[in-house]
Amino acid sequence: MDVQKLVSEMTLKEKASLLSGADFWHTKAVERLGLPEFMMCDGPNGLRKQDGESDHLGLFTSISTVCYPTASAVASSWDEEMADKLGQMLGDECLREDVSMLLGPGLNMKRSPVCGRNFEYYSEDPFLAGKIAAAYIKGVQSKGVAACPKHFAANNQEYRRMSGNSVVDERTLHEIYLQAFEMAVKEAKPKSIMCAYNMLNGTYLSENKYMLTEVLRDKWGFDGFVVTDWSAGKDAVKGVEAGLDLVMPGGPKDHEEAVIRAVESGVLDEAKVDRAVINILNAFNWTLENKLSGNRPSDETTRKADYKFARELAENSAVLLKNNRVLPIRSDRKVLFVGEFAKKPRYQGSGSSHINSAFVSNAFDAAADRNISFVQGYDTGEKDLKRIAMLREEAVEAAEKADIIVIFAGLPASYESEGFDRTNINLPTDQDKLIEELTHLGKKTVVVMHNGAPVAMPWIDRVDAVLDMFLAGDGVGEATVRLLYGEANPSGKLSESYPYKLSDNPSYLNFPGEAGNPVYAEGVFIGYRYYEKKHMPVLFPFGHGLSYTEFEYSDLEISSDRITDEDTVTVSIDVWNVGRYPGKEVVQLYVGDNESRANRPLKELKAFKKIELKPEEKETVTFTLDKRAFSYYDERIHDFRVESGDFTIMVGASSSDIRHAASIYVEGSTDIPLTVTERTAIADILETKKGKKVLGPIIKKTLEDHKNESVDEDAMGEGGNEMFERMVLEMPLLSLVSFDIMTKEETDKLVKKLNR
Ligand code: BGC
Repeated sequence: MDVQKLVSEMTLKEKASLLSGADFWHTKAVERLGLPEFMMCDGPNGLRKQDGESDHLGLFTSISTVCYPTASAVASSWDEEMADKLGQMLGDECLREDVSMLLGPGLNMKRSPVCGRNFEYYSEDPFLAGKIAAAYIKGVQSKGVAACPKHFAANNQEYRRMSGNSVVDERTLHEIYLQAFEMAVKEAKPKSIMCAYNMLNGTYLSENKYMLTEVLRDKWGFDGFVVTDWSAGKDAVKGVEAGLDLVMPGGPKDHEEAVIRAVESGVLDEAKVDRAVINILNAFNWTLENKLSGNRPSDETTRKADYKFARELAENSAVLLKNNRVLPIRSDRKVLFVGEFAKKPRYQGSGSSHINSAFVSNAFDAAADRNISFVQGYDTGEKDLKRIAMLREEAVEAAEKADIIVIFAGLPASYESEGFDRTNINLPTDQDKLIEELTHLGKKTVVVMHNGAPVAMPWIDRVDAVLDMFLAGDGVGEATVRLLYGEANPSGKLSESYPYKLSDNPSYLNFPGEAGNPVYAEGVFIGYRYYEKKHMPVLFPFGHGLSYTEFEYSDLEISSDRITDEDTVTVSIDVWNVGRYPGKEVVQLYVGDNESRANRPLKELKAFKKIELKPEEKETVTFTLDKRAFSYYDERIHDFRVESGDFTIMVGASSSDIRHAASIYVEGSTDIPLTVTERTAIADILETKKGKKVLGPIIKKTLEDHKNESVDEDAMGEGGNEMFERMVLEMPLLSLVSFDIMTKEETDKLVKKLNR
């Protein structure tokens, strides 16, 4: 398709028709020119294709298919290869089903553990989310199917998700809430992006020129098309002006007419309509040209292979949170499975990502050939207190006869969904009580968790092991059993911190905000960035996850201990499997700025790698860090920059299990444009190149004079010279006059010189 030519042949009406959908899932066709309609469907953890008539909310039955682990699980695998493969499996399925675009992945940050959609998002860390998202998008698009990362951006809660206003400062926005999108756009070049429902700093994302044009296209080089979240389209003209291309699902019904009216009355430049049409058609044309042929058929063999991958991904994602030498379970042990989820596991979330699974494995059936028995223990739908007590008593009785008790616990479906947030992070009370009572029997107890987001574990000190499966998709039951019995070795690491209680979370006082208008007052201190800075203990830290084997780290080496921000530095470390099982380890690299003008986290994830090692095997893991690893977003230049100084590079097995560290000096090269007045602080002037040159010598001399004059430093208390230096640096230029260091005329001249 020659897109430019096609667009030049279109009438205004035809062009305007392409800017909103035909129905819930299709764009409009232009039959006169042979342009077909294109179909897009929900992901992200499976293909939700509605075959027949679509309903109002597009939530009725979809085709029967495979449900993969949801995003919070996928991110906990820290496995880019698997995320890529997941994208490929989904891309393949889209091809089989004639779907041109998959609506995913979701990569909003987990600002609060209670956001109802957290199961559909990756992490509290933008680097991890960005890497996993980029891999997934590359996988989908390698099949010639467009991916559509969502929801762009600062859409971090469900309460008033369609109308709320997220108030976020520029630095926080770029460092935290945009970074994963930026990485996904730059590394994977998605053909589309979905703008969120909410407002950002007072403007709807669907009408937000700063976000849709200045950041997305001008700064990051995005060359796909922007589609609204479903029904997020507002004013047609404002949308097109801001850089919005397609309104779904058909948008406000008069979208098409509104565009035509606006062009005809001269309010909207037709060239902007052309731009939107070209963006949309370029992407769909790309799918036509790149669609892989010879796609795997839609038969039983394909289905089985997809399911097998879903199970493997679940095994790779599960996190062993605690293990008091009870796991893996020896085959001769008499094991009691307790809990509804052993037979009817919770394996996905509710809402637009809900998959119509053809088959879901459960742990009870998967362990049928082992020495297990089962008791229900709780019923997620039960309200009757007597029956709840009876179920618990039955479980306690049955547990007397077992060697090991495995409790399948977790959040009922009604707790986690698109559309609303949780109000707390607790398990249902009857489950907490059941676990607590079973731990009083003096038996070994294991808890298997099914949850899309963190939960509190008041019984944690009393149980021997906790295996977190998250929402693990169709393979959940088999994966759980294989992990419990050591046929698979846990290798996931937490992609978000588990706080002891909800009120520990940094967003607590501002979530969900007055009338759904959250102020992101905690700034860049999201998740571990906050807990660490406050030295606050957590139930389990970011990056934590155990294995049945053990890994030792040695010989951290950096290629240089002094670089400029135009150089890169290589960091390598040896990792050994010193335990008895083959296993996988996620090697994590964090960077901390030892001293900075900006308030920065103690450490931030900047690289990671998942490796696989047999017992006694060693691998040297190498990372390359560039400028961005040391940068923060400086609002004065509206960009990332490195502040010259010492940094610490930390490598370890979790954010709180750093095994080795090294120091490096990085010289920053970005100058700060500064308009100097007599009220500007001396420290700020000295940060600029010109300031250093012009004012630097004067200040140096002042400090030296002071040192030489103050024979008795103790007169000002110990450290008097240092105090003097600090005082001077924080003074406005004007104070040099009051303290007789310069005359008024001299400072006026200096200001002129600095601004020249
Ligand atoms: C959700 C999107 C989804 C769309 C289509 C919206 O309500 O926020 O994530 O892709 O519906 O189902």
